[in-house]
Parts: sequence; structure tokens; C-alpha cells
Amino acid sequence: MDQLKRQAAARALEEVRDGMQLGLGTGSTAKHFVELLGERVAAGLNVIGVPTSEATRADAMRCGVPLTTLDEIDHLDITIDGADEIDPQLNLIKGGGGALLREKIVAAASDRMIVIADETKWVPTLGRFPLPVEVIPFGLGATRRAIEKAFAECGVSGQMAVRRAKDGHAFVTDGGHWIVDAQLGRIADPASLARALSAIPGVVEHGLFIGLASSAVLAGGEGIRVIERR
Ligand code: A5P
Repeated sequence: MDQLKRQAAARALEEVRDGMQLGLGTGSTAKHFVELLGERVAAGLNVIGVPTSEATRADAMRCGVPLTTLDEIDHLDITIDGADEIDPQLNLIKGGGGALLREKIVAAASDRMIVIADETKWVPTLGRFPLPVEVIPFGLGATRRAIEKAFAECGVSGQMAVRRAKDGHAFVTDGGHWIVDAQLGRIADPASLARALSAIPGVVEHGLFIGLASSAVLAGGEGIRVIERR
């Protein structure tokens, strides 16, 4: 599986040109991309990256990839990032690694977003992977009730749980927030659910990435498949 992730990362790297400004995703697949990019930088490629998490910042620094911020540059050419699920419209569930907020800010600031993944992430309908919703700890009971109402209005339901870190305490994101993971099973209308969740005070962001991915690079036993958004 790790080999497939690296193959997808290597295929996406072929899209990178000298002088590009890149969004650098988070997770095990994106980590392969950062490592491969570092090798190209060491060989003379001139690029600059914006990391989507403190973990990716540390990886990029270790690999010698020059970094900047969205305050210092006005746009990104390509963001390359992993995903937890990808549907045929290239809608995504992201946030399994907890970096969904910065990932979405960076993807939205990019001309293109290339999703890199092994083929197990490809699904006919989103929802088998628990949907991460990043929330403010204050007033969490009210926020959870509002989320449940939004779920009901969008025809989905399922168990919700605050994500825990290894030490048993609530997992805290790079932005200082918490994450609630919702086991929805099947999300028939992800765009409506995305809008409903975005309207809730107390919800900082959610892991539905609608209309952001331009293409997906999927690596499987039979080779690599590149799917472009129609
Ligand atoms: C990080 O918050 C996530 O959005 C990751 O991009 C996603 O979980 C994919 O991670 P892997 O590449 O490790 O599967």
C-alpha cells in the first residue's frame, strides 16, 4: 500500500514545473510527495511550498523544501494532497489526519488541486469513512445538536464522537479546535450537507471538499489512473 501511495505521489510530481508555488498536503501519501519533491529541489528544482499542517511543515523542512505562507504570496499553482475518500465527481472526505481546516484554506487558494491516493480511497458514494467536523470546544453540546439537525435535514444519521488523542484527551487540531467524527455510512447529497454544516456557529470547518479537486491520481495493482473533474 505504501508503494502505491508513493507511485501516486511520483505521478503528481510530473505536473510540477520550475517556479511553481505549491500547497503541500498532510498525511502518509502527501508525505511521500514532500519527500520526492525534496529530492527534486536538491537536484535544482526551484519551487516554494505552503504546508497544510505543522507535521508537513516539519517534513518539508527536513526534506529541504523552501516554505512560505499565504500572507507572503497571492496564490498557489497546485496543491497536492491525499484524501480519505474520493467519489466519481471528485468530491472528497478529508481530515482523517486532523488537518482539514488548513487543507481546505490551501486548496481553495490554489489554481488546481491534485488528489493522490491508493485506489482503496475511490468510492461510489462518500460516507463510509467517518466525516470529520472541526468544532470549537465552547458550547459543544449546542453545536452537536445543531449538527444532528443538519444531518436529519440532509437525510443522514449516525453516531458522533469527539476524536481522542493517544493519551485519551480530546485530539486538538493545529488551530486549537476539536474534531467530532460522524459515522454516516452514505452521504447521498454531499454538497447540501456541506452547506448545512458550514452554516452552524461552532463548526469551524468540515471534511467535505466539494468542487475543489481538479484531478485524482489513483495508484492500484493494475497501474495508475488519472481522473479529471468534468
Ligand atoms: C489529513 O487531515 C487528511 O485529510 C489526509 O489527507 C487524509 O487523511 C489522507 O491521509 P493518508 O494519505 O495518510 O491516507
